Amino acid sequence: MKAVVFEKFGGPDVLKYVDLPVPRPGPGQVLVKTASVGVCKADWRVRTGRCQWLTCPFPVTIGYEMAGTVAALGPGVTGLSVGQPVHVLHMACYGTYAEYMAVTVDDVFPLPAGVDFDAAAAAFNYFVAWGLLHQIVQVRAGQSLYIGGAAGGVGTAVIQLAQQAGAEVIASASTDTKCEYLRQLGVSRVFNHKLEEDVSAVRRLSGGRGVDYVYDQVAGPRFCRQFDMLTTYGQIILYNYLGGYPEDREIIHILQSRCEGCYGLRYFSIHVHDDDPAGFRKVKEQVFALMASGAVKPPIHDVLPLSAAARAHELLEAGSIMGKLVLHPD
Ligand SMILES: NC(=O)c1ccc[n+]([C@@H]2O[C@H](COP(=O)([O-])OP(=O)(O)OC[C@H]3O[C@@H](n4cnc5c(N)ncnc54)[C@H](OP(=O)(O)O)[C@@H]3O)[C@@H](O)[C@H]2O)c1
Repeated sequence: MKAVVFEKFGGPDVLKYVDLPVPRPGPGQVLVKTASVGVCKADWRVRTGRCQWLTCPFPVTIGYEMAGTVAALGPGVTGLSVGQPVHVLHMACYGTYAEYMAVTVDDVFPLPAGVDFDAAAAAFNYFVAWGLLHQIVQVRAGQSLYIGGAAGGVGTAVIQLAQQAGAEVIASASTDTKCEYLRQLGVSRVFNHKLEEDVSAVRRLSGGRGVDYVYDQVAGPRFCRQFDMLTTYGQIILYNYLGGYPEDREIIHILQSRCEGCYGLRYFSIHVHDDDPAGFRKVKEQVFALMASGAVKPPIHDVLPLSAAARAHELLEAGSIMGKLVLHPD
């Protein structure tokens, strides 16, 4: 079979399209034939050596997520049948950029009718978005949120689930093309964060009130300015720190100096489910039910062949993906 592997951490060029034997499913494993692979910024973390959950030795087949059909069941596996459409999210953070994958049954979820493979290959973003909106906080109708750099995979998932919940969304992106894309997703309060300072833009677009939640994947030295986007009891919810760390002392000082706002700060990781498989299955059920009903339709940026995985990672690094990029076996 064909697969995309890397033997050292580095840029997109470390990804090699190679031949590997089709794996045999061991006890408790399922062999899945790939139909669509999801490309996620998390793959970039793995490829560059920033992922603490990757313990697999080199060479590593890259990829967290894919959708396909059950090709064979390993000893002891029940409840699935050959030919059944399934979603795979491998929490050990490798293995899905391949024509076949043998994976533990806990990482396999049966797809309900009405969910196509490309939509399913985007589901990881919606699991993250579900956690951000409904697990660590409970976003309700009438509440408001701001998400920056929102045209990517997780950003568009947060927007769609927030719209489902009846929340008011303010979103930004770095180009006018991406801003127009956000408007097409139904977000009317949009600004270009390269052209307009974000704190004043969020305050302007929230009518001076501030928002209940700021969703932030950047953090960085100027992280604390975002407390000024919040309304009373508002919370910043981090899900990455692409811009690096702020200074700890500054956070405490700034929270204390704004104590009339009583702001909160949370960090969400999908690995909160590592010790909670039953809870994670409930999240997956709810996300796939929304997809099956047509209430949520993941926007697919493009479909590339599996052999173009390095090109897909160049697009990921350029920040030019709007919605979800998926790969199909050649
Ligand atoms: N916590 C978790 O469990 C979890 C799980 C999965 C993913 N994530 C994180 O979620 C984020 C989104 O993932 P994705 O797959 O949706 O990525 P994506 O499709 O590449 O979108 C990310 C967006 O972030 C902005 N961006 C990219 N690089 C940036 C940088 N260095 N500094 C500031 N902004 C940058 C870009 O928007 P603009 O150009 O418009 O600014 C881009 O559209 C990533 O940071 C990923 O690591 C977290």
